[in-house]
Amino acid sequence: MMLVLGLESSCDETAAAIVDDSRRILSHRLATQEEAHRPYGGVVPEIAARAHVEKLIPLVEGALADAKLSLADVDAIAATAGPGLIGGVMVGLVTGKALALATGKPLVAINHLEGHALSPRLADASLEFPYALLLVSGGHCQLLEVRGPGDYRRIATTIDDAVGEAFDKTAKLLGLGFPGGPAVEQAALKGDPFAVPLPRPLLGSPEPHFSFAGLKSAVLRARDAGIHRAEDIAASFTQAVIDCLLDRTARGLRRMEAPRALVVAGGVAANSAIRRALETLAGEQGLRFIAPPGWLCTDNAAMIAWAGIERHRLGWDDPLDFVARARWPL
Ligand code: KG4
Ligand code: ZN
Repeated sequence: MMLVLGLESSCDETAAAIVDDSRRILSHRLATQEEAHRPYGGVVPEIAARAHVEKLIPLVEGALADAKLSLADVDAIAATAGPGLIGGVMVGLVTGKALALATGKPLVAINHLEGHALSPRLADASLEFPYALLLVSGGHCQLLEVRGPGDYRRIATTIDDAVGEAFDKTAKLLGLGFPGGPAVEQAALKGDPFAVPLPRPLLGSPEPHFSFAGLKSAVLRARDAGIHRAEDIAASFTQAVIDCLLDRTARGLRRMEAPRALVVAGGVAANSAIRRALETLAGEQGLRFIAPPGWLCTDNAAMIAWAGIERHRLGWDDPLDFVARARWPL
């Protein structure tokens, strides 16, 4: 059996988890910084980095205690090494290096996006490569062909904003609070998805890319018009996002050989309406649909530990001078 300790600190969640190669999550601890960032309506990098410093070691101790293990029992230490807010990434990576150095265990430096990309394989043992992955998070919106660990073919990406960013900005514009995605989802439940006419950027365009900046501006105009309920704007916004994701994903799927499944991951994949719509699309395309549970879609350390297992068992450990990266495309 192989046990990996995972560390995550690339944005505003600090997390530690222990996972084994039979996909058992022995423990996972997470401290969210939502309260610290709420007054600013967004994540403040300096506040985030300081909070990671305070929280990470106690979370590691907690995760070890929950699993009734000590550091000597783990086979490797996996830490997010980017992309993300560089101060936070450095805290997690340096912590991982220090634990590796002190215990003599190997370090596995994880690309946070690969953590999201492989998380569906932690959730579902039957998911094999290659699969079509819609990666929708606060910083990304990409359609990828996942061929194996470290082996990704990018089919499409956003030409402007990430989809999570669009959710966060919409929440801010509508005064729904922070974090934005869950707030928009709650408001949308009480709204009419066809009440407010909003654009569907790039719908029908031959290249499968995504775009959300125009949608965000349209939300601003709809709000300023002063005639719509926030709930109706939230629901109509969500519907526009769904229409774009479905059209673009369907287009991108035509460029893949024979994906085994359509998979969605990343924070926005926690949205139930988006999951349902993608499940329908997968059905129409004759594909299995796989979405990790909501907590595994948003940032967490279990997905980092799992990516560590996928890489460590291939012998892909990393040197202790591995450098943290703010930008790191898959
Ligand atoms: O993957 P993630 O936790 O962090 C990044 O790596 O970016 O994704 C965070 C993003 C945020 O933009 C957040 O608003 C969005 O995911 N999100 C949601 C929901 N939960 C989180 N968007 C829509 N509906 C949700 N329920
Ligand atoms: Zn993420």
